[in-house]
Amino acid sequence: MEQTFIMIKPDGVQRGLVGDIISRFEKKGFSLKGLKLMGVERAFAEKHYEDLSAKPFFNGLVEYIISGPVIAMVWEGKNVVVTGRKIIGATNPSDSAPGTIRGDYAIEIGRNVIHGSDSVESAKKEIALWFPDGTVGWQSSLHPWIYE
Ligand code: PPS
Repeated sequence: MEQTFIMIKPDGVQRGLVGDIISRFEKKGFSLKGLKLMGVERAFAEKHYEDLSAKPFFNGLVEYIISGPVIAMVWEGKNVVVTGRKIIGATNPSDSAPGTIRGDYAIEIGRNVIHGSDSVESAKKEIALWFPDGTVGWQSSLHPWIYE
């Protein structure tokens, strides 16, 4: 089954949005396979965002991610990468629809609350980086009520 990496950024943690965000993924029917609250070192944040190192906002983005604890999660389910991005909403909150996490809770791109992998390939890479010891193998008893 497909997995994605989701990170609640420092603003989401500080603003008390963790419970609401987890609830949205749970209510959709996705399964939580890994979760940790952690502070991120600069080198680790630079590694996570290495594809963006030439962008003018790179340093600001790294400073933002290391500014406080984040919640790192792995969610599993059918099409979870694409659907997870829909639950999160467009990258720039000015474009995020109401009802999405960023549409409901964010105003600026540099404080957009949450990250979600943009492809199955990135998800595999990010899960390996953030959960080097692996994730938890379990299946919800609700599985037959979510999948036909
Ligand atoms: S780009 O330029 O198209 O590659 O960027 P994009 O795919 O839209 O976003 C990639 C990540 O960079 C973050 N981002 C920014 N952060 C701070 N300031 C500015 N201006 C900015 N622009 C993009 C964006 O939130 C994405 O991070 P994640 O963690 O994936 O949300």
